[in-house]
Amino acid sequence: MQKLTLNKAVFPVAGLGTRFLPATKAQPKEMLPVVDKPLIQYAVEEAYSAGIRNMIFVTGRSKRAIEDHFDTAYELESELEKSGKQALLALVRSIQPEDMNIAFVRQPRSMGLGHAVLCAEHLVGNEAFAVLLADDLMVGAQGGPSVLAQMAEQFRELGQSVLAVQEVPLEHTRRYGIAAGEMVNPRLMNIHNIVEKPAPEAAPSRMGVAGRYILTPAIFEHIRHQARGVGGEIQLTDGISSLLADERVYAFQYKGKRYDCGSKEGFLEATVELALQHPEVGTNFRHYLENLQLALISAA
Ligand code: UTP
Repeated sequence: MQKLTLNKAVFPVAGLGTRFLPATKAQPKEMLPVVDKPLIQYAVEEAYSAGIRNMIFVTGRSKRAIEDHFDTAYELESELEKSGKQALLALVRSIQPEDMNIAFVRQPRSMGLGHAVLCAEHLVGNEAFAVLLADDLMVGAQGGPSVLAQMAEQFRELGQSVLAVQEVPLEHTRRYGIAAGEMVNPRLMNIHNIVEKPAPEAAPSRMGVAGRYILTPAIFEHIRHQARGVGGEIQLTDGISSLLADERVYAFQYKGKRYDCGSKEGFLEATVELALQHPEVGTNFRHYLENLQLALISAA
């Protein structure tokens, strides 16, 4: 049984973001905004909502903008103060609440998600931690807790690793880690095996892992000895598969929705749906869409 506190979140943001070129040539994919907020800020707010106060970013080249985003913007703040724009000032300052700590570590080369997580080991230490992939934008069910807050609750009950999963179409199994096992209750599965990006005919189930994990520190030892997997990368999924020999790992079907913002379609879906709910632009944007004459816009 692990200590049941969850104080740290790791954000691997060192990937190349090739699916979003050219936008990601010189800026991080995680800084792409959905309406008016960068993807990474959605993920940090989700971790904060789950009670986590220590945020650890695993960064790489061209990711400076992320550090700046979570730093004090001295000139901007003093300009806003001078011109009496208090609401904007509060908005800018709310990005890093005073009780939130931030640390950065570099992943020297994009060697895979497992390797990125391993780069944070010395900052995580011997305690359970969350991993959030910011390009998966997760929205909890309306009025309910965030996806990570739901997972944290499961973790506190189980004391073991918990992965977020959703049922995915069979033809999409190649995009996910796929987990199979025995259902403990309608939303919780005790995982027996997990495979990274299997072909549909090799997939052990249709339970695809979304980009949210709560992991016990035992994972580090397993990743350390992990050979390269799919795509020549050190895969977190393979580390979790190895962890199963020593510990239970659970898959949790969260309440809410995932937008795959690492892909153009998912990013567009998130933009449209979150814009429709946005307090400032939602109403006008809804009118705009209702009146949009799709038939008059020619397809590519
Ligand atoms: P992706 O599989 O989306 O890879 O990584 P990517 O490189 O970011 O994007 P594409 O596929 O080339 O378009 C999932 C998450 O893991 C991080 C990424 O930043 C992303 O948040 N990651 C991936 C790392 O931090 N390091 C890596 O070596 C690989």
